Amino acid sequence: MDAERYRGPVRLVLYTGKGGVGKTTTAAATARAAADRGVRTLVVSSDLAHSLGDVVGAELGPTPVSLDSGLDAMEIDARAEIARHYGTVREYLVELFRYQGIDDVVADELALFPGAEEVAALLAVEDAAAKADYELVVVDCAPTGSTLRLLTLPEMLTGALRIVPALARMLSTVVSPLVQAAVRAPIPRSPVFRQLEELVEERAVTLRARLSSCDTSVRIVATPERMVIDEARRAFMELSLFDLRCDAVILNRMLPEAAALEDFFQGSWERQCERRRELEELFAPVRVLDAPLQRDEVIGLSALSAHGAEVFADCEPHGLLSDAPRIRFTRARGGHRVHLPLPGASPDQLEVAVVEDELIVRAGSRRRAIPLPPRIYKLPLTSARLRDGTLVVSFEPPAESA
Ligand SMILES: Nc1ncnc2c1ncn2[C@@H]1O[C@H](COP(=O)(O)OP(=O)(O)O)[C@@H](O)[C@H]1O
Ligand SMILES: [Mg+2]
Repeated sequence: MDAERYRGPVRLVLYTGKGGVGKTTTAAATARAAADRGVRTLVVSSDLAHSLGDVVGAELGPTPVSLDSGLDAMEIDARAEIARHYGTVREYLVELFRYQGIDDVVADELALFPGAEEVAALLAVEDAAAKADYELVVVDCAPTGSTLRLLTLPEMLTGALRIVPALARMLSTVVSPLVQAAVRAPIPRSPVFRQLEELVEERAVTLRARLSSCDTSVRIVATPERMVIDEARRAFMELSLFDLRCDAVILNRMLPEAAALEDFFQGSWERQCERRRELEELFAPVRVLDAPLQRDEVIGLSALSAHGAEVFADCEPHGLLSDAPRIRFTRARGGHRVHLPLPGASPDQLEVAVVEDELIVRAGSRRRAIPLPPRIYKLPLTSARLRDGTLVVSFEPPAESA
């Protein structure tokens, strides 16, 4: 149903990872490598700490700039996007918070609901991608935490905010100016509802459909360091929870084999080999691509071309590089099972419940509501087990008791 609204087939590749691991570099090198192979490409930075312009060596702004044949680039200012598209909703929220005695600056911050900037950025990406005739859009996202917020927000928006337009509509018709005088809180005006409705019912739904379509991949950039790998592991589990396709991990700053011969680097080289194996095991069947540590910073189009050619030596930068297992439903013992891959999750971290017609899975701080068909949610939930990185939830009819 949702997928009908989404009109592809522009390929969307999002890069995320811990701060400083090389997201901007990898995103730009991917875009450059694709353009070098004749793919019409747009590279976009949605990270508020923009550095894409410096990497590609051009002054960038909110509209695409042509860098070279087949490669355009832009930087999105999320706050400006919010002001442009959702100014009315935002003004209302600021007014409401102010009314509650919250000071101006804080009200202003609060009115940016969590993830608003990220969503605005992605909506701007959608607009840019729709306008021009691109085959690939590569997005240099903010560090992992905010990217995941971005990716999961459409779901939260459609869930939690769904009631707002309905409630607001009710208020606007029932609450007359007379009541408005009695109720002292600011009552939203109709343009507020219209914007909210459009945001929640149309754009968030389209965005969600786009993100979970097979034209979108998320790639995690990592370096062979303990803390970076731990964050990559968490990100992978969370992407899987929300049914988003991770098709590759780019392992950046890999030392060349010659380093093994140097006394000083030998330990680092051995550690990096070990961590590479660990990552491969953790992410299998998702591909791990090596990105070599270059002699100098990777800046400018020709350095990006060379770096991109090395990373994508034996695969296409715009391709779907691998396909991780996704949520499945099976029949068993007269009932049904839901198989949700959650690689690297631990049982004590998980909570599972059925609320009305949804299966609620909480993994750490993330919560996903998976809609179930009636044939499943009408049966009692009989067990939930974590088996080889997959959560298996069983629904079985009650046994015929004697
Ligand atoms: N493979 C690499 N070889 C050499 N320098 C790199 C490599 N990857 C990244 N860098 C450099 O490391 C710094 C941080 O990279 P950047 O892509 O900006 O990280 P992020 O976007 O994740 O914060 C930059 O100066 C960049 O040029
Ligand atoms: Mg960056």
